[in-house]
Amino acid sequence: MKHTDIRDILHSADFVGQDVTVCGWVRTARDSKNMAFLALNDGTTLSHLQIVIDKNSGVELPAEAAKLGAALKIVGTVVENHNNGTNEINAKEITVLGACPADYPLQKKFQKLETLREMPHIRVRTNTFNAVFRVRSVLAAAIHRFFQERGFVYVNTPLITGSDCEGAGEMFKVTTIGYSDKYKNAEEYYADDFFGKRAGLSVSGQLEGEVAAMALGKIYTFGPSFRAEKSNTVRHVAEFWHVEPEVAFAELPDVIELAEDMIKYIIKEYMEKCPEELKFFEERFQKGLTEKLLNVLHNDFAIVDYTDAIELLKKADVEFQYPVEWGCDLQSEHERYITEQIYKKPVFLINYPKDIKSFYMKQNPDGKTVAATDLLVPGVGEIIGGSEREADLDKLLAAMKERNMSLDDYRDYLDLRKYGSVPHGGFGLGFERVIMYVTGMENIRDVIFYPRTVGNIR
Ligand code: 4AD
Repeated sequence: MKHTDIRDILHSADFVGQDVTVCGWVRTARDSKNMAFLALNDGTTLSHLQIVIDKNSGVELPAEAAKLGAALKIVGTVVENHNNGTNEINAKEITVLGACPADYPLQKKFQKLETLREMPHIRVRTNTFNAVFRVRSVLAAAIHRFFQERGFVYVNTPLITGSDCEGAGEMFKVTTIGYSDKYKNAEEYYADDFFGKRAGLSVSGQLEGEVAAMALGKIYTFGPSFRAEKSNTVRHVAEFWHVEPEVAFAELPDVIELAEDMIKYIIKEYMEKCPEELKFFEERFQKGLTEKLLNVLHNDFAIVDYTDAIELLKKADVEFQYPVEWGCDLQSEHERYITEQIYKKPVFLINYPKDIKSFYMKQNPDGKTVAATDLLVPGVGEIIGGSEREADLDKLLAAMKERNMSLDDYRDYLDLRKYGSVPHGGFGLGFERVIMYVTGMENIRDVIFYPRTVGNIR
């Protein structure tokens, strides 16, 4: 259907005086005896295009056209609206492409995000989700551009896997047959299944990412990861999008530098490409958002040792729900205190106790900690987890044995340490978490199209 995008018409002087065809959905309608005004949105911009209908000019306004949610095709002349500087259309011909009856769920101007979550197929039609998904798209493109400009190779790691990368046992099973009494034990059951062994949905592409980095040097993945953890929080979904760069000849400081550069790069692109959306989020969801992002761009992130962070938390004049001791896994309340109250900016926490981190992380000479880092940001908490990897075969084997891991399942991974092993590292960015950070949206369910959480799928 030949038509012009609303985003092209709204602000361009070139269109003034021309006849155009536009298509879109009615966002608001005001209808009186002589005149009618429709705000039309086609999804190409957050702003609506005003359609002016002068009923005395002989233009026919079909009854179904002035209804919220109706899909229209309009032919008309572009004129400048001197009050607000944008263009509008004096309609000549109005066609209803799809009528929208009165039970359309978006009748009320502002609906609660909770209510909208119940209808993911409808909520995308609101300004909020229009803005969220446009920002999501711009950030995804920025991530690819960041890595491509630096010579990283985009690798697609498998989603169905036979190993559990984080070793945390939170994988969704992949099976074509259900377990039944027919099987004497789990082994027999798995042997009969599609792959002939236990399989699941990948929690991370890192292990395969490391394989690729040992040949291609600098790689990144950008795809879904799956976690069957039952954390029903505002920061967890069972299916999230994961950006995982992996770099050969890199140590922990290189990993940290890459992560900081990437975050700054994508925020800069967002601010340049989405000024309208940013303004919207600032006004509707987070006062001070623009200033917060400018501060991120213009200041170094803090780098804080886990051990020092524990000391700071212990000294804090706050009653935490979970007590703090060296060796404990930091809870969201601790992470947020560090980044929101103490540093008031993004913080890389480094050198965590080895017992609370994954087997593959580089063991520090102190014998107690590993060269890991989490990036914590105000308002969200952890958005990145990464590390330098253990490149020494014997040390890696020792860490795996300590955790009673099956060495056989990780034969390929261990080969990386046997054949030309080098210092290397990388990180995983939770894509939804960074979208939350830059938009000020407080619930991860509101930055992903169809959120999958415990007890919720549609
Ligand atoms: O810290 P995580 O578990 O690290 C890894 O998976 C490493 N293999 C990454 C690597 O080094 N290549 O996860 C990385 C990030 C977290 O910081 C968080 O932002 C996000 O993934 N994440 C989730 N996001 C939404 N919902 C969940 N259930 C998430 N679990 C992790």
